[in-house]
Amino acid sequence: MLADVIACLVCPVCGSDLALEAAALRCARGHAFDVARQGYVNLLPGRARAGTADTPEMVDARAAFLGAGHYDEILDAVAAVSEVALGEGPAGCVADVGAGTGDYLARVLERSPGRVGLALDLSKHALRRAARAHPRIGAAVCDTWKPLPVRTGAAALVLDVFAPRNAAEFARILGPGGALVVVTPGAEHLRELVDVLGLVTVDERKDERLAGSLGERFTLVDPVPVRVDMSLTHDDVAALVGMGPSSRHVTAMEMAARIGALSEPVGVTAAVTVSLYHPVPQVGA
Ligand SMILES: C[S@@+](CC[C@H](N)C(=O)[O-])C[C@H]1O[C@@H](n2cnc3c(N)ncnc32)[C@H](O)[C@@H]1O
Ligand SMILES: [Zn+2]
Repeated sequence: MLADVIACLVCPVCGSDLALEAAALRCARGHAFDVARQGYVNLLPGRARAGTADTPEMVDARAAFLGAGHYDEILDAVAAVSEVALGEGPAGCVADVGAGTGDYLARVLERSPGRVGLALDLSKHALRRAARAHPRIGAAVCDTWKPLPVRTGAAALVLDVFAPRNAAEFARILGPGGALVVVTPGAEHLRELVDVLGLVTVDERKDERLAGSLGERFTLVDPVPVRVDMSLTHDDVAALVGMGPSSRHVTAMEMAARIGALSEPVGVTAAVTVSLYHPVPQVGA
């Protein structure tokens, strides 16, 4: 793991600095965390609970779908917004919280050559891929709903792409002048598939709830809508469905039958918003 990435991390038990020793990160008080052969470190204290973490099947489906290039315009929009924010921002790493396969973080790092990236996720299956997604990525298993094992003020940019958001922790890990980039699905996202495949409907009030959940800590600076008209094969649709939790609501056999009945190629809209936020200075901070 890169020294610059380790410098952004802290011990999840006692909050002190970590150093790489043999195949583990260790703090001065002796708490040790193994770096897996695949290059990620597990910084979840105690026994891991999978909870909402993506399964190996979901990660494989996500890797296949992103690898086919269907979301490239979304990846590029995230990288473009991030590049501008980093250009104006302070020193520090790019922390992608709920990073999944690391594709978004890798795209951001490609356009920001001086930066290192921290891929954080509850799924070790996802981080096996994220750790290999770019030479400047370090990957750590942790839970967004717990204190993040990241040094206060160490991040120049926090990325959150379709993943759980912890506004208080995002604000804590951002340095002064840092920024948050969030990607959320819009009401039209995958609309051609929602009814016919029985996917979970995108909550039309999600944007409102997002503003509410970040509102006290962050100010929305610039929301960029991105709309992509995708042309998908049955295999692409299966990967798209398989990478989301919606696939849990219909049996695999029933889902395969519904996908097989679609006329190919399947026209599907991706409609998301890439939003740039700045932290609100906290009184007394
Ligand atoms: C919809 S996926 C998005 C992944 C990636 N950002 C992308 O768009 O390709 C949500 C990700 O959040 C992770 N996740 C879910 N609950 C989490 C939690 N409590 N803490 C950290 N990561 C979590 C999942 O493992 C998954 O990788
Ligand atoms: Zn410690």
